[in-house]
Amino acid sequence: MSEEEIQEAEDRRIEEAVETSDIAIKVRGLKNSFGDQVVHEHLDLDVRKGEILGVVGGSGTGKSVLMRSIIGLQTPDEGEVCVFGESMIGRLDDEALAIRKRWGVLFQGGALFSTLTVAENVEVPIREYYPNIGPQLRDEIAAYKIRLTGLPTEAGPKYPSELSGGMKKRAGLARALALDPDLLFLDEPTAGLDPIGAAAFDDQTRKLQQTLGLTVFLITHDLDTLYSICDRVAVLADKKVIAVGTIAELLALDHPWIQEYFNGPRGRAATAAVEREKGKAANKPTDGRQ
Ligand SMILES: Nc1ncnc2c1ncn2[C@@H]1O[C@H](COP(=O)(O)OP(=O)(O)OP(=O)(O)O)[C@@H](O)[C@H]1O
Ligand SMILES: [Mg+2]
Repeated sequence: MSEEEIQEAEDRRIEEAVETSDIAIKVRGLKNSFGDQVVHEHLDLDVRKGEILGVVGGSGTGKSVLMRSIIGLQTPDEGEVCVFGESMIGRLDDEALAIRKRWGVLFQGGALFSTLTVAENVEVPIREYYPNIGPQLRDEIAAYKIRLTGLPTEAGPKYPSELSGGMKKRAGLARALALDPDLLFLDEPTAGLDPIGAAAFDDQTRKLQQTLGLTVFLITHDLDTLYSICDRVAVLADKKVIAVGTIAELLALDHPWIQEYFNGPRGRAATAAVEREKGKAANKPTDGRQ
C-alpha cells in the first residue's frame, strides 16, 4: 500500500470509531505537574458524544492544561486519554494524524496568527492536513467557514489587528471549524465579550453543535453560557474533576465551591434570567402561529 492509501484506510478506521463511540473523550487517572506543582492528580472525565460539556473551576485549577493534555500539547506524568476510543498518550503527531483531523480548537485568547489575514488563518489547518487541496477550493472553504460563524465575507482579507474582540473569537471559531471537526474545544470563548456579543456567540455555538452534530468541550467562567447551552458541567477542584452533571444535579451537591459558584449572587441572577426566558417560551402561542 502507498502512504496515501495507508492514510486513507486510517481515516476510514477513525471515521468508523467516531460513528460507533458513545464516549468522545475518556480521561483516566490523569496526573500533570510542573516541577513541584501538581496541577492534576487522579483526574477522571468522560465527555459523551454529541454533548456540550461545560468545564468550570477557579482560575489556575488546570482547565487549559486539561484541554492541552487531551489534544496532545501537554504530555501527562500519568494516566490515559482516549479520543473516540483512540489512545492519545505517546502517539507521535504523524501517527495520530487521522484523529487529530477530527477536532478543532479555539485557544484561550484566540491565538490567531497576527501576520495572516482571517482567511489565511482559517486556511492554515487545511494546508497542514490536506496539502493536495488547491488554492481556489481552499479559498472557498475558508469563505464558507467565515460565513458559518456569522462573520461578514469582508472579514476574510482583514488582519486580526483590524478586528474587534468578538470578531477575533469568531475568526478563531472559523479556523477551529476548518476541517469539519466532530469535536470542538473552546477555551473561554466568550471572555471579554459584551453580554450581547457573548449571548450571540453562545447561540452560534449551540446552532453549530446541533446542525453539525458536534461534541463540544467548553471551558468557561461565564454562568450564562453554562445555563443556556451546556448539557452537563464538569467541575475542576482539588486537582481533579470533583463532579459532572446537569446544573440541577450539581446544585444538589454539598461542595462549598459548587454552592458558592452557582448559588452566589451571579449564579442566582443567571438562574433567574434562564427561568424568565423559559417562562416567555412557554407563553408563546402553540397553535402553529409564529
Ligand atoms: N507551561 C507551563 N509551565 C509551568 N506552569 C504551567 C504551565 N502551564 C500551566 N501552568 C500552571 O498550571 C496551573 C493551571 O494552569 P491553567 O492554565 O490550566 O489554569 P486555568 O484553570 O486554565 O486558569 P484560567 O481560568 O485562569 O485560564 C497554573 O498554576 C499555571 O501556572
Ligand atoms: Mg485557562
